[in-house]
Amino acid sequence: MAKAKQVYIESYGCQMNVYDSRAISDTLDAAGYVEVGRPEDAGLILMNTCAVRDNAENRVLGRIGQLQSMKKDDPQVLLGVVGCMAQRLGEQLPRKRKAVDLVVGTDGYKRLPQIVDALRSGAKAVVDTQADGVTTYVARPEANPTNNTHFVSITRGCDYRCTFCVVPNTRGVLRAKSPKTIIAEIREIVASGGVEVTLLGQNVTAYRHPEANFAALIRQVAKIDGLRRVRFLTSHPTDFPEETLVAIAENSEISPWLHMPVQSGNDRVLRRMKRGYRLREYMEVVERARELLPHATFSTDLIVGFPGESEAQFEDTLRVMEEVRYDSAFMFKYSERPGTPAARLEDDVPEAVKDERLYRLIAHQNALWADGAKALLGQRWEVAVEGHDHKGKGLLKCRSLNNRKVLIPNDSGFGIGDELLVRVREFSGTTFHADPIGLLWKYSHVAA
Ligand code: SAH
Ligand code: F3S
Repeated sequence: MAKAKQVYIESYGCQMNVYDSRAISDTLDAAGYVEVGRPEDAGLILMNTCAVRDNAENRVLGRIGQLQSMKKDDPQVLLGVVGCMAQRLGEQLPRKRKAVDLVVGTDGYKRLPQIVDALRSGAKAVVDTQADGVTTYVARPEANPTNNTHFVSITRGCDYRCTFCVVPNTRGVLRAKSPKTIIAEIREIVASGGVEVTLLGQNVTAYRHPEANFAALIRQVAKIDGLRRVRFLTSHPTDFPEETLVAIAENSEISPWLHMPVQSGNDRVLRRMKRGYRLREYMEVVERARELLPHATFSTDLIVGFPGESEAQFEDTLRVMEEVRYDSAFMFKYSERPGTPAARLEDDVPEAVKDERLYRLIAHQNALWADGAKALLGQRWEVAVEGHDHKGKGLLKCRSLNNRKVLIPNDSGFGIGDELLVRVREFSGTTFHADPIGLLWKYSHVAA
């Protein structure tokens, strides 16, 4: 059956999973598989999962329910769960959902072809959650990245133990790819037509390798011939030395957008979260970044309703948003994760209070954003065209180096990859509208 060698992969959660899914696809490709875009066409269905919050896992459990109908139509079809939820739940998964044939944890993707072969030779559900603390993956360049940026994971895992976070359990300790591997990977991306990369890591600024720290690495990456833009996420304030800010300041290719989660604006909550900084130290990085990087923008992750969070402590989080003025914020209700240190604390903020705080947090962020956006109208920005507006309005989606999203009319003959000068006219929601002033750089790629 030809279908047996067709694989469908669905990614959940962070960009690192998107990257890992490509590495999985490459591994299977080398074993003779072809990736397909619809589960109906596949003999192997994989879900690359997230475990960071309860609702991320519930979505996957619900989706397994839908996908198992493919197995009813064709009993040869195999259904697999890989990634963080697979790592966390292991043996429990096939017990929870009988349709699951294979469970492969975050360090096991290279073994997937053998695992599938074993299943097809009659093995019952296979669970492989062996973690080794050293595995990294290299994915081949993606032909058509949807947003014009190519993800490159430079580290896996995390050495911190933020008490709410399941990532150290699911992804293991920090391991870094060598600068040589990273540079070679990016050169291939450039050779295939890429001009922008986003370096990824759970705590990307903690990158360290005997041959380079993060500051040295981004300097090397910025110098790669043909590469025009370098972004990175997620940053941690404890791993943001002056040296890194200077490297950004001295290389015009490196984006001065810092996605640096603060989580809470209250020192006692930060201590219970074991974030490793006090608010003053976080603000010192923000202030120094503002001094060194005139176009610096900031984004963040925030959690409301961490165990013991009082109303006054929550209000400190509202205050830090006023001080930093985030361009965007991912805002979450605390979700207790089994096996994390915070799971031993009583999850004592009532659900209704979490809901109410999240609502106020989002309203506050939106109001602050709109207020800040007004001051930007009329400015001239350099942007790169990333694609077409999906809402079908005939607009082009663009992004400035410091990560502001801008829509422009699609009637001036500009194409994806072009760099333009635009003037900001207005904003709606969290998107700016602008008018093109002129072309700064024309994208062209002639395949090597
Ligand atoms: N440094 C990582 C963080 C991974 S989790 C990164 O690359 O983004 C992403 C965000 O999810 C965290 O910053 C945190 O705000 C949120 N989060 C993590 N665990 C959570 C939990 N148990 N409940 C609610 N939000 C959580
Ligand atoms: Fe999680 Fe904290 Fe690391 S949020 S990924 S343990 S820096």
